[in-house]
Amino acid sequence: MSKVTAPEIRARKGGAKIRMVTAYDYPTARIADRAGADIILVGDSVANVVLGHTDTLSVDTEVMVHHTAAVTRAAPDALVVGDMPWMSFHVSPEDTVRNAARLVREGGAAAVKIEGGRKRLGVLAAVLAAEIPVMGHLGLTPQSVHAMGGYRLQGKEVHAAYEMISDAQALADAGVFAIVLEGVPDRVAQIVTAEVPVPTIGIGAGAGCDGQVLVMHDVLGLGGGEYLPKFVRPYASLADDAVGALERFFDDVESGAFPSADETYHMPDESFEILRDLVDLESRVDR
Ligand code: KIV
Repeated sequence: MSKVTAPEIRARKGGAKIRMVTAYDYPTARIADRAGADIILVGDSVANVVLGHTDTLSVDTEVMVHHTAAVTRAAPDALVVGDMPWMSFHVSPEDTVRNAARLVREGGAAAVKIEGGRKRLGVLAAVLAAEIPVMGHLGLTPQSVHAMGGYRLQGKEVHAAYEMISDAQALADAGVFAIVLEGVPDRVAQIVTAEVPVPTIGIGAGAGCDGQVLVMHDVLGLGGGEYLPKFVRPYASLADDAVGALERFFDDVESGAFPSADETYHMPDESFEILRDLVDLESRVDR
């Protein structure tokens, strides 16, 4: 497969479903790429699933650059999108462009994601003018947790749904290459998908979107038993598998079954004899 680009994703509207997953470091990026991801999102969900925070507000551009660079060092074929964290696009268009450029120049991302609708049009235009492709993100935008009063389904009421559709149209008109729809009723996501000319990528938005995204640690069951939202389908229980593997390792350490002769470096007999004689001699001299 050759490197996936933002214009290619834009051209997938209504075609083969887009496969997107988060990754935050070199090994998870390699796993995502081997599995055939079209897009790897270095999400600010790194704050929750990797760094143990309770929300995404605690990560800044520095953290996102660090993780994005780890992902791109895996040289995936997938398009790598760097998530712009809270307060990295709220101060001014100039500041936003500088932060987006760091994700591209230092992190190696080929696109960035910005949460929010029409109120982001100013900063969006500035980033696009700097030739950086932008992915939009509407619905349950986790950086708005305090403004939303918690992590709640968005667009339930007619008025809110209508506003979301208008936001999506405005983002598409501005030039985003795709829009993530998170925590949205399926029918609203279907209307947005039908109304905008760019692909929608759903997470908790039903089956009618042009693609789907999930957090890698949720898909793989790597989270260690925390609460999982209704829209997550875990396809593995890697945390349990990992605990089992480590328990077997510790049992083998305790019993002496690890390491075996095959897992050990050996000194040739001849050198060993010389070394032992040397140590014996020295200990006799010391006495
Ligand atoms: O940060 C993230 O992981 C995200 C996805 C859930 C879309 O924004």
